[in-house]
Amino acid sequence: MQFPTDVLTVLTDQRTEIRHDQVRVPFELDRVVYEQVNVVLKDMGGRWDGRKSIRAHVFPYRIEEFMRQCLAAGEYPSRTDQGWYATPPALVTQVVDAAGIYAGHTVLEPSAGAGAMTADIASRGGLVDAVEIDRRRAQILRAQGDCRTVIEGDFLALDPLDLEQGYDRIVMNPPFNTGLDHILHALKFMSDDGHLVAIMTAGLMWWSDRKSVEFRQLVEEVGGEIEALPDDSFAVSGTNVRTCLVFVPGYAGSRLQTHDWLMRQPRQLGLFDFAA
Ligand SMILES: C[S@@+](CC[C@H](N)C(=O)[O-])C[C@H]1O[C@@H](n2cnc3c(N)ncnc32)[C@H](O)[C@@H]1O
Repeated sequence: MQFPTDVLTVLTDQRTEIRHDQVRVPFELDRVVYEQVNVVLKDMGGRWDGRKSIRAHVFPYRIEEFMRQCLAAGEYPSRTDQGWYATPPALVTQVVDAAGIYAGHTVLEPSAGAGAMTADIASRGGLVDAVEIDRRRAQILRAQGDCRTVIEGDFLALDPLDLEQGYDRIVMNPPFNTGLDHILHALKFMSDDGHLVAIMTAGLMWWSDRKSVEFRQLVEEVGGEIEALPDDSFAVSGTNVRTCLVFVPGYAGSRLQTHDWLMRQPRQLGLFDFAA
C-alpha cells in the first residue's frame, strides 16, 4: 500500500519519534491527518496506547528498522498482506519456550514476517534460518541481523533435499489459510529428534477434512499436542482470530515425514540417466 502523502510527511518529520516498538507524534496534527496516520499505523499492526507515560502507537514487533525501509520505499505491507500478523511478544515467549531452544540449536522460521520470533530465538543462542515471501519483510529480517540466513521466497517451493541435515527446531506462525500445508512441508525440514511448534487457526482442532483429521492422528501418535490459545492472544496485533498451538516432537520410526525420513527413502536418482 502507498503511504498517503500527508501521512508520509508526518512520519518523516524530524520531530516524529520512531523507536523500538513505538511511533510517537509529539506535535499537533490536523484532525483529518491524525485520522489518516492512525489508520495507517493500525494497518501496520500498531495499537494506540493513550497512557500518559506512553502516548504512542505500540507495535508487537520492532518497528524502527521496518518503518525506515517502508518510508524509503513510500509503501508498507498492510496487516492482512499475505496473511501477516506479527506474533505478540508474550506469545513469542510461550512458543519459543515450548520449542525448548538451546544455544547451538539450528532453527528454521519458515514464514518469518518482520522477525518477531527470530529475535527471541537468536537471543537464546539458536542459529536461525528464516524464509519470508514478502520482499520488504525479508529486507527487514536481513537488516535486523538475527538470522544466520534469510531466504526471500516461497517456503512451499523449497526442496528439503537441498539440505544435508534437518533442523533441531522449527518455530512458525504461518499464514492461516494454508497453514497446514506449511506445517506438513516444514516437518520435511526437521531432523528425527527435532521439535516443531506452530501457531495455527483454532479450526485445525476440529476441521473434518481428511488432511486435518490425519494430521491430528499423527500428532497424537508421536505424543504431540494441539492446544487452544486464549481468544485474545492476537488482540494486540489487531485481530481476534482464534488460534491454537501445535507441538510435534520428532519420533524416529514414526510415520512423520521428517528430513531424516526423506533421506532414508531409496533414491530414484539416475534411473533415467542414459550415457550419451
Ligand atoms: C502470520 S505472519 C507471521 C510472521 C512471523 N512469523 C511472526 O510470528 O510475527 C505469516 C508470514 O508468512 C509470510 N508468508 C506467507 N506465505 C508465505 C510463503 N509461501 N513462504 C514464505 N513466507 C510466507 C507472510 O508474508 C507473513 O509475513
